[in-house]
Amino acid sequence: MIVIGCDHAAVNLRRAVLAHLDEKQIPYIDMGTDGEACDYPDMAKAVCGKILSGEAERGVLLCGTGIGMSIAANKLPGIRAACCSDSFSARYTRLHNDANVLCMGERVIGQGLALELLDIFLATPFEGGRHQKRVDLIRALEKGDTE
Ligand code: RB5
Repeated sequence: MIVIGCDHAAVNLRRAVLAHLDEKQIPYIDMGTDGEACDYPDMAKAVCGKILSGEAERGVLLCGTGIGMSIAANKLPGIRAACCSDSFSARYTRLHNDANVLCMGERVIGQGLALELLDIFLATPFEGGRHQKRVDLIRALEKGDTE
């Protein structure tokens, strides 16, 4: 299950993402927004909450740049959000970081590229191995191991 949310700056990209998932028959939870002004940290919290509760495996957060959503999402322990605008990053953030949220900016990339990045993000597995230890070290940072 995928969970999707956007703010008012990414309404068109969200619609394109939903249509793309419908076409591929990939199930999702749609958190909006359909156009009303929305503060991106609130949407990041709502979408990430669905992942942390186990209702969804991965999330997609869309805003003007993708950056505000990624900054907010990465404040939540257990969330590894990657703001991507190229296919290499979308692939490797899955392979190496086990990213569970893809952030993209409607004002940064076109819809065609965004849908390609989404497909890559959803299709690419975590590589594990030496990268598992590094993800575990991120988890330790979340628990306060900052000395
Ligand atoms: C909203 O105007 C804009 O600030 C937001 O969508 C996003 O780009 C923030 O990072």
